[in-house]
Amino acid sequence: MKKTENKQPSGAPAIAHYSSSDMNKFGGVYATPFRNEIAGVFITELVEKYGSPLFVLSEEHLRQSVRRINRAFTTRYAKVRQAWSYKTNYINAVSAILHSEGCDAEVVSEFEYDKARRLGVPASRIFFNGPYKSRNVLTKAVKAEARIHVDHLDELALLEEVAVDLGILDFPITIRLNFDTGFAENWGRFGFNLENGQAMEAARRIAASPNLKLTGLHNHIGTFITEPRAYAVQIGIMIAFMNSVEAATDCTISTLDIGGGFASPNAMQGVSLPPEQIIPTPEQYAEAICGALAIGLKDREQQGKPLPELVLETGRAVVDEAEWLISSVIANKRLPDGKRAMVVDAGINILFTAFLYNHDVRPTRPVEGILEDTVLYGPLCMNTDVVRQSVRLPPLKVGDLLSFWPVGAYNNTQWMQFIQLRPAVVLVRQNGQVDVVRRAETLDDIEAPEHLPSDLQPDFS
Ligand SMILES: Cc1ncc(COP(=O)(O)O)c(C=O)c1O
Repeated sequence: MKKTENKQPSGAPAIAHYSSSDMNKFGGVYATPFRNEIAGVFITELVEKYGSPLFVLSEEHLRQSVRRINRAFTTRYAKVRQAWSYKTNYINAVSAILHSEGCDAEVVSEFEYDKARRLGVPASRIFFNGPYKSRNVLTKAVKAEARIHVDHLDELALLEEVAVDLGILDFPITIRLNFDTGFAENWGRFGFNLENGQAMEAARRIAASPNLKLTGLHNHIGTFITEPRAYAVQIGIMIAFMNSVEAATDCTISTLDIGGGFASPNAMQGVSLPPEQIIPTPEQYAEAICGALAIGLKDREQQGKPLPELVLETGRAVVDEAEWLISSVIANKRLPDGKRAMVVDAGINILFTAFLYNHDVRPTRPVEGILEDTVLYGPLCMNTDVVRQSVRLPPLKVGDLLSFWPVGAYNNTQWMQFIQLRPAVVLVRQNGQVDVVRRAETLDDIEAPEHLPSDLQPDFS
């Protein structure tokens, strides 16, 4: 046997920077945080049974999260509805749990509308947003009396045509508004602008139509809004517009839909403070919003007008913290510049929010050793497949597991089948049972819509 065969693989020596923040006040090293269970079920058992990578949802976390938001608002304002924003996570089990908690549905496409209907949501409990609604889906939605939010004048004209064709009078609709709150950049591409008079023009067009009737106002100021006062300003502006539009067109507004945007406990990239210091609680959002409603609507009942219902389309703040992604270490590497790297089996194709957040990444067992800045690469053969630019991790072995959290918002909808198949999603039920709510994809799933003309079948004989 040659001597070299016994040698351990080696690389260039590297110096790991030992940070004082890794030590406690006695000079000892803090125990590396780890997570070995989700809602009482061991992660290793989940991975053994359902494979890696694996998305793991917790029913208990999801219910607690939506209930807390609901409680924060219903204890402060009389008429509140939560419309679950489907695009945030439309796995049926997630939507079904939220509907069982009393949520309506907020959808933004024909696909999402059909999905909600197939799940059994009555059309009257579907809030239909989005810049593109075909004649086909508008006809379905009007017939079924869904709550349609008009985005632009062309859609208004189309909707009127549909109502005329169906012989419907006074079909109640909502218009989406956009305006500047001074806090977040105005999403001016959606809805009718308030400052330049477009919104009032749309309201007059609706008032002039015997087939349509304006009953609601909608606005979504943006996403991950960490300043509750932004909503107080939003409410003030919407109420002022409600008063002017009612006076100008003799309509009655019965719904104020303030969209979504509450932040989840995730660490936004580029923000130095940790989420626990900057993310408002649901109660803080509710206090700002309901306080502004109380001020703006104080004379409304005396004027003989109904208190408008408040609609919330909260997405990420409901579901983000109820889901984890478990991924396995595939390889340890030392980069040419000396930095430590790991290859893991979950890539940006399934963890889309890695572009936005520094997720909380932890091993799933206690690991001893010096923490070191590590870049985490996914399994895709793409240079951009970086699920974390830099995270301090202890030494980990091939096969060790990492948990990424919170990942419940916008990953199971924006993920894509690219190079790798998409993994399973399991739900830990409140009784500890585990249900597969989306099985792992197979090659057959991907090829099902394809057709290979017979003369193109390769022949390698
Ligand atoms: C109209 C509308 N409502 C609700 C949401 C949900 O937003 P979030 O997840 O920030 O709560 C969005 C997201 O973009 C949206 O566009």
